[in-house]
Amino acid sequence: MSTIVSPSVLSADFANLERDVKMLNESSADWIHIDIMDGQFVPNISFGLPVMKAIHKHATKPLDVHLMIATPDDYIDDFKAAGAEILTVHYEACTHLHRTLQRIKAAGMKTGVALNPHTNVQLLKDVLQDIDLVLIMSVNPGFGGQKFIPHAIEKVKEIKALITAQQTNTLIEVDGGVNLETGKQLVDAGADALVAGSFVFGSENPIETIKKLGELK
Ligand code: DX5
Ligand code: ZN
Repeated sequence: MSTIVSPSVLSADFANLERDVKMLNESSADWIHIDIMDGQFVPNISFGLPVMKAIHKHATKPLDVHLMIATPDDYIDDFKAAGAEILTVHYEACTHLHRTLQRIKAAGMKTGVALNPHTNVQLLKDVLQDIDLVLIMSVNPGFGGQKFIPHAIEKVKEIKALITAQQTNTLIEVDGGVNLETGKQLVDAGADALVAGSFVFGSENPIETIKKLGELK
């Protein structure tokens, strides 16, 4: 089986977003990763709903939305309306995660839960049945182009074991510092999906880079 590739538009040229989204449409990318940062949950501000709507207008692939915001519960319906297919919230931002996941499902989206590098994967044990996608952060969220934290590989193995034990269909996605080398290690450990920002958009031939990531197995 090939690997799901979700290029992050955080590293796109924001002055040429339509061009870059069309490039992703033509590529073998499976999803388009949208990083929403609020300057509170993470020490950076990316872009918000109007820009995401503009991306959605041109995108022909599912929008894989990663909310790095302090109060995700307040915006679930807004992100549905802006075109989110998968809505990923941070474990660390949700006091009532179970309720949040039910609300994402009720709004008609797939549920995702992201874990910061310090958050133990076992904390998802009692809610795994309700999660379509676990997003293991392999950098501290907030910025593109950071160095990969190798411990993420162990976390992928551990969450894979939990998923196997509970027989859920949960996918494992990894985000941060992904390139062909780290991507290979992650896929070997059990990752189903890879997010890549700077590696894709910083490469000479993004379409070829996306293809190579997808061929990892
Ligand atoms: C980081 C974001 C990532 C980011 C990844 O906070 O969640 O999705 O775009 O960028 P790279 O691939 O450059 O590490
Ligand atoms: Zn992300």
